[in-house]
Amino acid sequence: MDTVKISSGQAKIIAHRGLSGIERENTCPAFVAAGNRSYFGIEADVHITKDGKFIIIHDETTNRVTAGVHKINVERTTHSKSENIILPDLDGTTIRKDIKIPLLDEYLSICKKYGKTAVLEVKSLFSESDIKKLVLNIKALGYIENVIFISFALENCINLRKLLPQSQIQLLTKRELTSDIIRTLCENKLDLDINYKKLTKEAVDLLHSHKIRVNCWTCDNKADAERLVDYGVDFITTNILE
Ligand code: G3P
Ligand code: CA
Repeated sequence: MDTVKISSGQAKIIAHRGLSGIERENTCPAFVAAGNRSYFGIEADVHITKDGKFIIIHDETTNRVTAGVHKINVERTTHSKSENIILPDLDGTTIRKDIKIPLLDEYLSICKKYGKTAVLEVKSLFSESDIKKLVLNIKALGYIENVIFISFALENCINLRKLLPQSQIQLLTKRELTSDIIRTLCENKLDLDINYKKLTKEAVDLLHSHKIRVNCWTCDNKADAERLVDYGVDFITTNILE
């Protein structure tokens, strides 16, 4: 298996949930696969367990990634309930024992080893104290300057901005671009991470005129990605394009 090569121009390419076109999403193998390729960044989704551990998984539960074998709500249970689960490979087999739900520290240490920017999505609405704990945890690993934070929750972005005046923080949206969104981004010194289907060249130019960087997700099609490059986007998030 290999990735689809594109002419990425100025756009920095981010491997979505690790290189999830090739390896099980949000696992160490997916992060290492991205680490070994030309990606600028590696995206991952973080949740906090009932006992305060930061774990990397997209959904609130283990249901989908275990094909229904385990139905644990990760935020309502302790880490010990999910740490030993072997996730099925993309072909459904469980022969490999390295496909597991990683901790934040494991993900960041892979980003650090391979010199990749960590694009960390704060998946659910975190309390202000959990945001503080998350930032302290990343600072303790010495990687805070190499993390771009993303979140659909404006409150998470605002709480991160209070602690991290210089960091790149991107508000995720599924909506069309509006003047309200632009105002919110400017007021809070945020960038934008938007569904790529909602983007136009005019929207990218408008965002850039306000000094707002533009990330877009999740584009796996070569022709669409090259069109986004022509629009001048700053980042493209993808499962497979390199
Ligand atoms: O990179 C942004 C993208 O990850 C947001 O959507 O559902 O894949 O987390 P989702
Ligand atoms: Ca995500």
